[in-house]
Amino acid sequence: MTWKFGRQHWVIVSVVSAGIAAVAMLGAIVIYAGAYNIAADSPHTSAVFWLLQTTRNRSIEVRSGDVGQLPDLTDPKRVAAGAGLYSEMCSQCHLAPGMERTEISQGLYPRAPELSGGSDLSPQQKFWVIKHGIKMTGMPAWGVTHNDTLIWDMVAFIQKLPTLDAAQYQAIVKSAPEDHDQMMRDMPGMKSPGDNGDHH
Ligand code: HEC
Repeated sequence: MTWKFGRQHWVIVSVVSAGIAAVAMLGAIVIYAGAYNIAADSPHTSAVFWLLQTTRNRSIEVRSGDVGQLPDLTDPKRVAAGAGLYSEMCSQCHLAPGMERTEISQGLYPRAPELSGGSDLSPQQKFWVIKHGIKMTGMPAWGVTHNDTLIWDMVAFIQKLPTLDAAQYQAIVKSAPEDHDQMMRDMPGMKSPGDNGDHH
């Protein structure tokens, strides 16, 4: 028996197409009228929040699958190096034990999670997020200026961070290699951070 594309089918196809066109048109009107408030001091509607959050979570889950082998994240040297990098480059947004909320952390939207409270992300997912950053959130792609070894150092430190109180945090930051710039230049395979030493 051959399947015929009868009149009824054409009606269904027309109605569905008209529906899609109407939704697309409405979307275009909303966008071009500037109806959606992009301001960081006005929270997303719950539908937009769901859309962005789901897109973000799925993207991280799928893409962090091939970040390579997990190094030893408990190595104290790694954790100490990560602590130095964290206090220098991350704490102004993500804060740290004993630290007051900074102005930047209060103004960011979406907010940077306080990583001392833990994170639902796996070490591989943290690595991916730190290396590549997250679009339209203020979370930078640190892989542009830091090699994978340094990024794993930061992951190692973030794994440890929820167990630290303010004094332990200070102590571990003090134990970090002093010169971040030297540490970067010494790394084999490091992309050139520039010669002026103020790349971060
Ligand atoms: C300018 C502010 C800013 C700086 C500096 C910053 N981050 Fe972020 N970070 C963010 C924001 C905002 C988010 C949340 C993005 C989102 O909601 O998807 C984020 C998310 C993350 C996450 C995901 C956490 C989770 O549980 O979802 C990790 C891990 C992270 N940052 C690590 C770092 C590290 C490590 C550094 C320093 C090398 C750093 N960040 C520096 C703003 C910042």
